[in-house]
Amino acid sequence: MLAKTPPMGFNTWNTFGSQISDKLVMECADVMKDSGLLDVGYRYLVIDDCWSEKLRDPETHRLVASHEKFPRGMRFIADYVHERGLLFGIYSCDGVRTCGDYPGSFDHEFLDAQTFAEWGVDFLKYDNCYRPGSADQKMLYARMGMALRATGRDILFSACNWGQEESWRWIRSTGAHMYRSTGDIFDNAESYRGIVRSQTGHLCASAPGCFNDLDMLTVGMFGKGLVGTTGCTGADYRSQFSLWCMFSAPLMLGCDIRNINPSIYALITNRALIAIDQDEEARPPIFLGGGEDSIVCLKFLKGGAYALGLFNFGEEDRELHALFEDAGLPFASGYGLRLRDVFTGEDVGRYSEYFRVKVPAHDCRVYRAALEKA
Ligand code: GLA
Repeated sequence: MLAKTPPMGFNTWNTFGSQISDKLVMECADVMKDSGLLDVGYRYLVIDDCWSEKLRDPETHRLVASHEKFPRGMRFIADYVHERGLLFGIYSCDGVRTCGDYPGSFDHEFLDAQTFAEWGVDFLKYDNCYRPGSADQKMLYARMGMALRATGRDILFSACNWGQEESWRWIRSTGAHMYRSTGDIFDNAESYRGIVRSQTGHLCASAPGCFNDLDMLTVGMFGKGLVGTTGCTGADYRSQFSLWCMFSAPLMLGCDIRNINPSIYALITNRALIAIDQDEEARPPIFLGGGEDSIVCLKFLKGGAYALGLFNFGEEDRELHALFEDAGLPFASGYGLRLRDVFTGEDVGRYSEYFRVKVPAHDCRVYRAALEKA
């Protein structure tokens, strides 16, 4: 089964936009392998939009890799990526052009899927720009889902229709393995919080085989790159990454992975957090109150474990609390939760009925928890 757990990897768009080349992709492949990112699960290296020539080959009608950016062609890149133990992803669109105005796959789905398979592609991000108004997007996503399967190659299908037409209700049926549920992320606190808030009611549709994609992470961008805008603080990146993990979202890195600072590297390779994201039961969390400017949630994990996250979206440090009653654990049961901080590894004790902790502005606290009798 593809996408048994949320896909993990790196995508070129957030930082590099159209400024991509074989040199860049090869450097990123080397970094993923050599820095340990692959070891913790980041397997897919995905080239986003703007990789092709502006027109199809006039005779074969096939897509052609940009002669300038990828002079040795895509098969060469795919081989390079595979030799490093990684999987290779590419991008296309259900419309006549991609969002960046390159040829789209509309009416060429089976040919393009075949071309991708011949190149050794393992992942297709499939966007939604320049779609003729007369064409139904549900049908177009199903058509590409069919075309990918017709190749006989395992190609992970990453649908990107930004949640249009309540995609969480139908996109799983098109063969998609992950689906963008919102518009594009930008590297600021309002952006990732807006995405998170918009999806809290839709997470039951996300499950093994097809996951709600909250977009590529801006973690570690610090304002650099195409979607850089103002940048975030380290606290915000901790919150963003942890929320993606609590929501079982795909973890697609979007920063310049060739230049990651040590604290960001520690965050994105934190095995305790990644285990929460990759939990094979992929249950959505229970929301335990919180207010306009906070989220408190508890996620059931396999093997009787739990994850508890408290997120302070406010501008002041403050106390947040979780009432265990709201997650089905009353005081009268005699059980409490033993909590281990996922960032420090510290056992912070056993709590019954409720847990209260000070959380700095924009920051979060995340614990792995286990039931424990008094
Ligand atoms: C859309 C997608 C982005 C990115 C760009 C490329 O905006 O949502 O993630 O792929 O297109 O042009």
